Parts: sequence; C-alpha cells; structure tokens
Amino acid sequence: MTDAPSVTTPLVALNNIQKTFGAVTALRGVSIDVLPGETFALLGDNAAGKSTLMKVLTGVYQPDQGTIRMDGEQVAFSSPAASRSAGIEMVYQDFALADNLDVRTNIFLGREPQRNVLGPLVRVVDRKKMERETNRVLERLDIPINPRLKVKRLSGGQRQAVAIGRALAFDAKLIIMDEPTANLSVAKVDKLIEVTQKLKDLGIAVIIITHRLDEAFAVADRCAVMRQGEVVGRYRMDEVSESEIAHLISQGNLDAYESAETDIPAERRRIGSTSAVTHSEQIPTNGSDA
Ligand SMILES: Nc1ncnc2c1ncn2[C@@H]1O[C@H](COP(=O)(O)OP(=O)(O)O)[C@@H](O)[C@H]1O
Ligand SMILES: [Mg+2]
Repeated sequence: MTDAPSVTTPLVALNNIQKTFGAVTALRGVSIDVLPGETFALLGDNAAGKSTLMKVLTGVYQPDQGTIRMDGEQVAFSSPAASRSAGIEMVYQDFALADNLDVRTNIFLGREPQRNVLGPLVRVVDRKKMERETNRVLERLDIPINPRLKVKRLSGGQRQAVAIGRALAFDAKLIIMDEPTANLSVAKVDKLIEVTQKLKDLGIAVIIITHRLDEAFAVADRCAVMRQGEVVGRYRMDEVSESEIAHLISQGNLDAYESAETDIPAERRRIGSTSAVTHSEQIPTNGSDA
C-alpha cells in the first residue's frame, strides 16, 4: 500500500472517514493527510465537522467507516490515551490547565514520572524530573517560565506555552490545536504564530483549526476546507487567496467566485512574514463564529 516511492509518506492520513450521530452525519467520507513537520490548517464554518474529525483522529470517537494511517501503517485509536502514545497530542481551546497547580504539575498532569524509594514497591512522583523536563520543553519553545509558579499567575501566552509544552514533554509528532486563538488578544495571536513556527523548526507537525484566515495564512503550509461534513478544497497556502478560501467556506465551491480587489497580495501572507500581517482588516466576512 505504498504510493510512488518518491512521495513522502504522510505522518497521518485519514481516508474516507464517515461519522454519524443519530440522524446527523458529521463526516461524509473525509480524507486529509499531513506530512511530517507540516503545519496544516483545517478550515470551515461552524458545524463543518472539523472538531469531530480531530476527535476521530485522537480516539475520542470511533469512525463508522474509513481508515487512519500513521507513517503508512493502519492504526485504530480506541481512546485518547492510545493516540497520545502514538505521538498525537491535543491542545484544547481553553488549554485545560489546572489553575491552582504549578507549571510542572500541569505539564505532567495524569502522566507524572515516578521514582522508587526503598525499592520498587514504594513509588513517588519524581518532582525533580518534572522540573527538569519542564525547563527543557519551555526552553525549546523559548518561553522560560518558573516551573514552580502556579498557573493562575501566568499570562495568556504563558498558559498557552504550558499547554503546548505538555505536548512537547511527551515527544509529540503531531500537535492539534482546535481554535487556539479564540480567547486571545492580537498580541497573543502573534505569540501563538511564533510558537507554531517554533514547532515547525522542531519538526513537529501541527493541525490548526481556526476561523481566522489571516492566522491560517500566517502559519500553515497547506489547508483543507470543510463544509457540511465534506472536504470541499485542499490547497497549498501559496496557491490560494484568503477571499477564495472565504468564498469556499461559505459557498462550498469556487464556481461563482470573482477575484476581489481586497485580496491580500501573496508577499504579505507568506509563511515567516507574519509581522506584515495586520489583524484588524482580515477578519473573514463569513465563516466566522457567531
Ligand atoms: N457528540 C455529538 N452528538 C451529536 N451531534 C454532534 C456531536 N458532535 C458533533 N455533532 C454534530 O456534528 C456536526 C459537526 O460538528 P463539529 O465537528 O463540532 O463541527 P466544527 O468543529 O466544524 O464546528 C454538527 O452538526 C454537530 O452538531
Ligand atoms: Mg469545532
């Protein structure tokens, strides 16, 4: 089941995924693939099926039909723990952090390293190791934070670094961010874009779900547009415009698309030139959350 030998094997390939909830068909034969180290934007209006697709990938839901491959091998994730141990980590919209616990505890929440005391029968949480590892992952993200600080004392951007650091600590190959900037200010969005670039430098693939097209164009290599449970388009970001994507999100095709004067020139949305993107003028006129 290999493609042409010169083609890079996708890190993750979802093929023909179908998922229904009672009378609602959330996914109708959805296929996407993400290459190793690639940043991939999953775009689409509310209820398009984006979160459901990611829940299938992370073992929260089982697909009714379709296959998942990682590095070319078919896999079936019976639980989020199973997908995590395969190297897939989810960063939740609200970052799902425990405010009253410190940074290192949040990074290892539920997966604390342990060490033996008095032989193998008595095991305690290895806080030294947690602190070391916390420093290591936050350094990799270039966001130093005291591992012993309570999370409630952190800024929004720092909280995000902790949430992403949690994924890094467990050697994620793919990090999924579902609407990560919904609650962030413009400055924090810039920081997220930076962090996403850093993940790319570290060779970690990212799937980012967002309704902010400026953000998608700033960080992603490729995208898929979903509408009503189907993929209606797949593009490299350098071969499509924001207004084309916005049209696709709302109409499901580009049949009646007419190039608008408001199109953002390619040089202003190329990856790595995020400083040139202004955030006030590019909110899509459709496709945004209500
Ligand atoms: N657990 C569920 N039970 C029933 N319907 C669901 C469930 N999860 C999602 N849906 C439905 O599936 C469709 C896709 O939802 P979702 O994947 O959340 O879309 P998106 O993330 O693109 O906004 C929607 O119609 C939604 O109401
Ligand atoms: Mg969603």
